[in-house]
Amino acid sequence: MAKELCVLAYSGGLDTSVAIRWIADNYNLDVIALAIDVGEEKDYEGIRQKGEQVGAVESLVINATDEFCSDYIRPALAANLMYENKYAAFTALARPLLAQHQVRVALERGAQYVAHGCTGKGNDQVRFEVTYQALAPQLKCIAPAREWNMTREQEIDYAQEHGIPVPVGKESPYSTDTNLWGRSIECGIIEDPSVEAPEDAWEWTVSPLEAPNEPTYVRITFDQGFPVALDGQSMAGPALISALNEIGGRNGVGRTNMLENRLVGIKSRELYETPAATILLAAHRDLESLVLDRDTMHFKPYLEQRYSELVYYGLWFAPLREAIDAFMAETQKTVTGEVTMKLYKGSAEAVARTSDYSLYDLGLASYGDADTFDPSKAEGFIDIWALPAKVTNAVRRERG
Ligand code: ARG
Repeated sequence: MAKELCVLAYSGGLDTSVAIRWIADNYNLDVIALAIDVGEEKDYEGIRQKGEQVGAVESLVINATDEFCSDYIRPALAANLMYENKYAAFTALARPLLAQHQVRVALERGAQYVAHGCTGKGNDQVRFEVTYQALAPQLKCIAPAREWNMTREQEIDYAQEHGIPVPVGKESPYSTDTNLWGRSIECGIIEDPSVEAPEDAWEWTVSPLEAPNEPTYVRITFDQGFPVALDGQSMAGPALISALNEIGGRNGVGRTNMLENRLVGIKSRELYETPAATILLAAHRDLESLVLDRDTMHFKPYLEQRYSELVYYGLWFAPLREAIDAFMAETQKTVTGEVTMKLYKGSAEAVARTSDYSLYDLGLASYGDADTFDPSKAEGFIDIWALPAKVTNAVRRERG
């Protein structure tokens, strides 16, 4: 009788390679290894082959970079997504996409199980499993790294016993997660928040001290809240984001060093490198300040914060996220125009902006010759505006 099937989210690393064999042995299942490219520059053909070699009955790679950009990064930018005002939440954004593809493959192949390589201490397990439960609750979930109770050494022994390649040479002291929108660095000395992170943790960004002494300017064109051109040259989202990762990284832009509150209640010390996200979020916010009316601009951050929490907490496939997306999309209709960013030794500052939808009116704002504002109107406005303060204070003075 054919064995039941399990679709594993496969990265090609040690944990998920061991997981292929471990699931096959401990659950008596055939394992399909599914690697998904969300813009990390890796040898995906090598990963596919490794999946097979390690024991998957089928090993496949899906390139989901365009989809990640259009369906996840685009709404994230519209919502200025920043968890705890610092983290662009790129790991959180990618997980529902990975899980969504897993579910699709599982249903296509008639699999009964899905599996991921997350541990029991992090947020990613939640993000995967909420998505499984939202999209296909009949699928059973296996989380080997949460179940097997192996130390790192035991895991390496297990790998060696089963002919699973163990990375040779000096192992990186860090654990990283990378996609188009950013790179995270955890573990090793980084776990001690009282110590400054060592320089070798950073890969995408140079130290601001080493960055050029002259600023670099980039002009970003937005169409309804999403970047479509760099210095006047039209570019697809992934290419544009990659280019900004490179330009920003060269200028030391996009390093984040924070203490973060995980959904599972643990505080963790995190390093992130997000040059493109840092530049684009700053440019996007700046353009919004030109084209959004005051009330919308002041209200939007409440929903942005809620949105950031929802995404970080793994609730991508939840009705509130969709409803907030609809609000955000409405606000982005006029977020079209150009922003010039000045990148200099770690900083990314918007220094100029234009838009056909600009609400800036020189005649109203100017103190120069262009002035068209009638100041006499201000007097009546102030009388009425001041009324509550005037009455209340008068009563207080009388009553003591
Ligand atoms: N703390 C971040 C988050 O929860 C980054 C997690 C990195 N994930 C990983 N599997 N290394 O989104």
